[in-house]
Amino acid sequence: MAHWGEHYEIKIPEKSRPGRRVSKPIYATELGAMYCGLAEKVLKSQPLKCLHGQAQLVFTSPPFPLNTKKRYGNLQGKQYIKWFASFAPLLKKFLAPNGSIVIEIGNAWEPGRPVMSTTVLQAFLRFLEKGGLHLCQEFVWYNSARLPSPIEWVNKERIRVKDAFTRIWWMSPTDRPKADNRRILREYSPSMKRLIETGKYNAGLRPAQYYIGEESFKTDNNGAIPPNVGDVDGVPSIDRIVTPKDFAEATNLLKAANTGSRDAYREFCVDRGATIHPARMPKSLVEFFLKFLTDKGDLILDPFGGSNTTGAIAEDMGRRWASVEAEWAYAAHSIGRFDPERIVEVDSDLSIVEVERKDEVALDDDQATAASSSSADMPLFTS
Ligand SMILES: C[S@@+](CC[C@H](N)C(=O)[O-])C[C@H]1O[C@@H](n2cnc3c(N)ncnc32)[C@H](O)[C@@H]1O
Repeated sequence: MAHWGEHYEIKIPEKSRPGRRVSKPIYATELGAMYCGLAEKVLKSQPLKCLHGQAQLVFTSPPFPLNTKKRYGNLQGKQYIKWFASFAPLLKKFLAPNGSIVIEIGNAWEPGRPVMSTTVLQAFLRFLEKGGLHLCQEFVWYNSARLPSPIEWVNKERIRVKDAFTRIWWMSPTDRPKADNRRILREYSPSMKRLIETGKYNAGLRPAQYYIGEESFKTDNNGAIPPNVGDVDGVPSIDRIVTPKDFAEATNLLKAANTGSRDAYREFCVDRGATIHPARMPKSLVEFFLKFLTDKGDLILDPFGGSNTTGAIAEDMGRRWASVEAEWAYAAHSIGRFDPERIVEVDSDLSIVEVERKDEVALDDDQATAASSSSADMPLFTS
């Protein structure tokens, strides 16, 4: 694998050139393409129409209604609901007949009041309605690393608790989109492993009115099937067969801390003095849904791509992908997530050059002339 800085260097201007066509990828690999522009514009552009009916999964984390004005996605209230819901019919056009839309979205609070905003919920209901979509399942993402917020009510007045989860809605135009929970099985808890080994447990009716059959827990299904649950502290345990910790890991309560450990993308941004995207999705979350809902070769679309976590994981997992991000700096620096040798096309604003290797064996005069005129200083791929 080649590395940015070590094997290849890239120059990213602060801004894109005026008049740049948003329907042209800012970079592309054999499997996917990253676009820079407003999703509502890019997705309606002619070249993207060839992807209609192709996406097995639309997987995204949209901007949510903010209390304070910030860059993109600063719409509020009714305007936000209208804007968000308008994506439902648009995204549906891209879906394969048995495809899914998965949206991760945070909670919002009323400005200046210790009261939660229902804008996101209203927007979601309108989205379902406008798209003629079904809610296949709701997931909760508990983020253990989240800082206490909203600060005013949690830290200062101490009248609310830390808001530490976001919702994930899995939707589809059909009741039975492609899905297979056998691909996301978790390792059994030690007690469950023991139970399968020994075949010994107390069958019968439990206080919670569960009936546990004689054979129910004797079959080894190669892992725990993710059940449906709501709250990390209120984790039900079936006679301690599944411990709270294992349960949280195995369920659709996805405990994925987004602590932003050092990764290639982070280093790429730091080395170039670029802003690291502040709301990156955790890798484990993307992997979970890609495994659950798609196969190799399927297309995944992310209309609010940010630092293109979705595209990079799709690439690693052999899926095709298309991502859109409105902000040039986020879109351009997301290239740092990819092996430079996988890049097959790049916008003419970005120039990639091969770095001269200091450890290379000495070349004779003819070889040196040929090498210097062919590699270093030469842009490799431009569109
Ligand atoms: C929550 S972030 C997505 C983060 C992303 N999942 C990641 O892992 O980096 C939402 C992104 O949507 C972008 N955005 C906001 N409005 C947009 C629009 N109309 N079209 C495309 N992108 C937009 C924002 O700039 C932001 O980067």
